[in-house]
Amino acid sequence: MQHTYSPVISSTGLFTPEESISNEELVESFNTYVANFNQDHAEAIAVGEVEALAPSSVEFIEKASGIKARHVMAKAPILDTAIMEPRWEERSNDEISVLAEIGVKAAEQALSRAGRDVKDVDAVLCAASNMQRPYPAMAIEIQQALGIDGFGFDMNVACSSATFGIQTAADYVRAGNAKSVLVVSPEITSGHLNWRDRDSHFIFGDVATAVLVEDASMAPAKHWNILGTKLKTVFSNNIRNNFGYLNKATPETVDAADKLFIQEGRKVFKEVVPMVAQMIIDEAERLEIDPAGLRRLWLHQANAGMNRLIAQKVLGHEANADESPTVLDTYGNTSSAGSIIAFHLNHDDLAAGDTGLICSFGAGYSAGTVFVRAVG
Ligand code: COA
Repeated sequence: MQHTYSPVISSTGLFTPEESISNEELVESFNTYVANFNQDHAEAIAVGEVEALAPSSVEFIEKASGIKARHVMAKAPILDTAIMEPRWEERSNDEISVLAEIGVKAAEQALSRAGRDVKDVDAVLCAASNMQRPYPAMAIEIQQALGIDGFGFDMNVACSSATFGIQTAADYVRAGNAKSVLVVSPEITSGHLNWRDRDSHFIFGDVATAVLVEDASMAPAKHWNILGTKLKTVFSNNIRNNFGYLNKATPETVDAADKLFIQEGRKVFKEVVPMVAQMIIDEAERLEIDPAGLRRLWLHQANAGMNRLIAQKVLGHEANADESPTVLDTYGNTSSAGSIIAFHLNHDDLAAGDTGLICSFGAGYSAGTVFVRAVG
């Protein structure tokens, strides 16, 4: 008889940068930049040639997004009004690159939590919004640093990269092409964020997560059955970043805002909430799961209001923090890592048989659902 494979989540790992920027620190730096800009351009502003910049506010940020702080890899240059971007010493090709380094840290934690020997891991997917370089793939560098004999590749589906990675890994397991796959999401989102843009300067933070997807036959006693995965993409320009080697910066456009993250936040909010809520409800029906009976939702962490609305539509009532935990307050939006951080920090208390949902959504648009059930 042919063996059938059942993909499960064996463990997860999390790397959190030590440094963190509070809303107060962020707004103080931003408003100093605004005051300096307005002073430097006072004459042009007075004659209407240049538009004065408006200050940011701690109250707005927290009310509009639920974000109170964000971890970053390089706090000082981000807050320095002469720089306002992350910077660190350039590393030689013989040193591990910074994105791979934090991915390795998260992956090591996932491996150790599962008691997994690297000899038994077959593949590494680096699934994240912003790769440090085009090639060699970040995944292959992570694979080599961990000592894994197998294969690796990068995939980018913006904020949905991790759930797309989990389905890809689960499909490898289902097909018998791999039995143990690491999905690593190192998100140094501070690099694509425009720290001078009032509308978005507060959104993102840095982090790395890892998910170990394996065949049930080799998983540790405590694991999560993957009941079903579903992916969806619909093209939209409402979240966009034109950075790339075919859109090279010229001296005139070197600071061009469109080479960084840009969004129409209101439109994203309005269009994505109903799309994702419906997708979850349809997929629950296909899997014969009562959405109202879901024990916990580990939703993408972009905006507290979006999560409140999605959870309400899915559960049929206003979700409390136990049903839909947030990590937005301390991590901000960490792109594809958000729902995995929420899962990593909030799953130990669930009992065998409890069913939950990991769900991502973001640029593309893209959305992914992973329904899971606790075992052991
Ligand atoms: N400080 C103070 N006021 C600000 C501000 C800031 N940093 N940024 C914007 N404002 C002002 C605006 O000027 C506007 O003022 P007005 O009403 O006088 O014109 C007001 O606040 C509302 O701005 P708006 O941009 O419409 O805010 P919002 O309530 O839509 O919240 C987001 C903004 C980005 C938090 C919200 O739209 C969002 O989270 N959308 C979804 C984003 C998302 O999930 N993206 C995916 C990324 S991967």
